[in-house]
Amino acid sequence: MTHVLHRSQLHKYPTAVSGSGVHLYDSDGNAYFDASGGAAVSCLGHGNAEVLDAMRRQMDSVAYAHTSFFTTDIAEELAELVMADAPDGLSHLHICNSGSEAIEACLKMARHYFNERGETHRINIISRRQSYHGITAGAFSVGGRMPARAPFEPLLFNAHHISPCFAYREQREDETEEDYAARLAQELEDKIAELGPDTVAAFVAETVVGATLGAVPAVPGYFKRIREICNRHGILLILDEVMCGMGRTGTLHACEQEAIAPDLMAVAKGLGGGYAPIGAMLCSQQIVSTITEGSGAFPHSQTYNGHPLSCAAAVAVQQIIKRDNLLQNVQERGTDLDRRLNEQFGNHHHVGDVRGRGLFRGVELVSDRASKTPFNPETKLHAKVKQAAMKHGLMVYTMGGTVDGITGDHILLAPPFIVDSNDVDTIVERLGLAIDDAIGHIASQ
Ligand SMILES: Cc1ncc(COP(=O)(O)O)c(C=O)c1O
Repeated sequence: MTHVLHRSQLHKYPTAVSGSGVHLYDSDGNAYFDASGGAAVSCLGHGNAEVLDAMRRQMDSVAYAHTSFFTTDIAEELAELVMADAPDGLSHLHICNSGSEAIEACLKMARHYFNERGETHRINIISRRQSYHGITAGAFSVGGRMPARAPFEPLLFNAHHISPCFAYREQREDETEEDYAARLAQELEDKIAELGPDTVAAFVAETVVGATLGAVPAVPGYFKRIREICNRHGILLILDEVMCGMGRTGTLHACEQEAIAPDLMAVAKGLGGGYAPIGAMLCSQQIVSTITEGSGAFPHSQTYNGHPLSCAAAVAVQQIIKRDNLLQNVQERGTDLDRRLNEQFGNHHHVGDVRGRGLFRGVELVSDRASKTPFNPETKLHAKVKQAAMKHGLMVYTMGGTVDGITGDHILLAPPFIVDSNDVDTIVERLGLAIDDAIGHIASQ
């Protein structure tokens, strides 16, 4: 008997009782290699003593101070640390509790910025199909998992969705990557023209698409074109780096690899590494100056903004990543992981694509590699892979609906930044077993 309203009332979850390094342990004594960091969260692994000590020290000084009364040294320290390495032009940090909240803050800030400028006609937000931006109403409105969104549509605002940049499925055979980027850029231009350029406030995109598509980077040049279009029409570019940011792809921010900077950016998961709930919006100096010269305030606050315990966790996590040069390990082990995945699955009849950057990798499953035909969604292959992986002591983040929100299956890998080469071998070997078990199970049905 449980009084917890679990994600699924039909599934029995093992009880996690401890965690250490790359492993979580359940109450039956089983060990699970956390190859997905939960949902790309646990970038330092579990039970990091330095982070826990930093949190204890923070609790001993000040555990909570409401931001309408006080700032805290730890919030100031976190903002200084994050902004020191922020993309060009970004200067200020709004600290909240989750990725969804960070996206809500970005959306609200976009509207507020234009209100401050007297451009109150900018009411439209453009985002992309096959994206996930969070579960709160605003974030869910811009999110592009259309079948999941449909039942809640009456409660959502009307964001305008265009195509994602998903070369494996949506680049045409007669198109170069450049042609494909140009076609998608034109789609954004067309949508802006249709809505009226001076009615659009912001374009929102995940720099590398995470949960919905399985670690899909854009083709080269795509984001440069997007940035240029936004600039030309005075539209804000909001990048969602909740999952792909804070080092996950091998650079602190995924947009560094696109050589662009957004006006607003959301980060969360890897910021605090799961040691405390935290998310944040990074905001450009230009936006902050507009507010400072206008009303002076951002009317969007929550009780737990800048929570000292979360800030302490995030400061400790980010300091360790920097001190131990872990981004180099993300790059090197990321290259290992890519190579090992391609060795293992490069000729696998049911693996259509291996993709991603750094320690953020996706494996897309297909019933036929040559035609890219997905499995029948009723088989729920993705869920079976997840279960089989757990039996082999491996946590992987799997999802269905890769193709169109309904069909398609993929596996997302996002192991802690502390993995070594042996760990990479372990992940790939166990994943191979899990995929074969799950597909064997379907075949025998
Ligand atoms: C890209 C992206 N944005 C936003 C969110 C929402 O973050 P949270 O679940 O912390 O609210 C997620 C969560 O998976 C995400 O992957």
